[in-house]
Amino acid sequence: MNIQKNISLKPYNTFGIDVKAHSFVEITGLLQLQKILQLSSYPERFVLSGGSNMLLTKDVEALVLYINVKGKSIVQETEDTVVIKAMAGENWHQLVLWSLEQGFGGLENLSLIPGNTGTAPIQNIGAYGIELKDVFVSCEAMDIATQELVEFSKEDCRFGYRDSIFKTAKKGKYIITSVSLQLTKRNHKLLTFYGAIEDELKSKGVVHPTINSISEAVIAIRRHKLPDPSELGNSGSFFKNPVVSKKTFDTFFKKNPNAPYYSLEDGTYKIPAGWLIEQCGFKGKRFGDAGVHEKQALVLVNYGNASGAEILALAHQIQEAVQKQFKIKITPEVNIIR
Ligand code: EPU
Repeated sequence: MNIQKNISLKPYNTFGIDVKAHSFVEITGLLQLQKILQLSSYPERFVLSGGSNMLLTKDVEALVLYINVKGKSIVQETEDTVVIKAMAGENWHQLVLWSLEQGFGGLENLSLIPGNTGTAPIQNIGAYGIELKDVFVSCEAMDIATQELVEFSKEDCRFGYRDSIFKTAKKGKYIITSVSLQLTKRNHKLLTFYGAIEDELKSKGVVHPTINSISEAVIAIRRHKLPDPSELGNSGSFFKNPVVSKKTFDTFFKKNPNAPYYSLEDGTYKIPAGWLIEQCGFKGKRFGDAGVHEKQALVLVNYGNASGAEILALAHQIQEAVQKQFKIKITPEVNIIR
């Protein structure tokens, strides 16, 4: 089984928080996962994969299951579309690049998102006009209690904005082992309406965009705006963009007529948390080794040796300031492990 003792989790979380796992095991196969879950000596488990959407605030006493099951294949194909299946431990961006190499469209706008494929459905990853749910077919997950493999359809997953059943009703009950996605082989649906993509393509002189040029544009935008976790610890957007009622929005907008916003189909409004945080004066600020990124205020960063508690304290300070100045509540997008 090779259960390691007292190892640092710093290399296993993109925030680069240095906490210890009392016990840790790397999972490379499904049978191994089943066996580990049957061990009565480790009744508490903590599931970790890409470690890109979590803030660790203390040592982990539960057995850390580092999900590193690899493999990807084409499972269905028609003239126009293809369904690919990727195991949970496949790095998300490598999967996007692989799909582009095959000439498959659908993932280009989701280029360069840190993390692994198995965790993508949990928070329904999204960027530049698309969310995972738009290409998602199904996923397989192991029931932690029975060790059975269960299939979840798109409907079963109840996807929402950075949300799914794996964050709500089924939280902590399953380990996602693979994800199946439907992509296009031709007549790709190119999504370039997101302002920054159009500008980036224009600046590169691209007149007829392709899935590859869109991917390159997204990569360039992300590299410019978002810190690379291998250089500066972070977990992407720390907060979700708040969604408010029309009444709250009207009051807010009267006082802040220059604020960016998106009106949603259901009559509510999404306000960029990055803008709110910037207005409160936090952008680029540093408190010890915890900070707010200089180019995107929605991203909290670890300059080296910040503890999870320090990052969390900064997050609380930001939430309070936004609440005080705008009367709007912002909530974390990252999973805070206490
Ligand atoms: N803004 C500011 N100041 C800032 C940051 C943003 O004023 O410091 C303003 C921008 O000028 C723009 C608006 O806020 O008007 C939106 O900014 P941006 O396009 O950068 O997107 P976002 O809403 O801040 C979301 C996702 C990102 C995703 C981008 C692009 C969430 C929580 N975040 O950020 O996702 O890459 O859109 O689609 O929805 C992530 O989830 O980890 C992530 C990086």
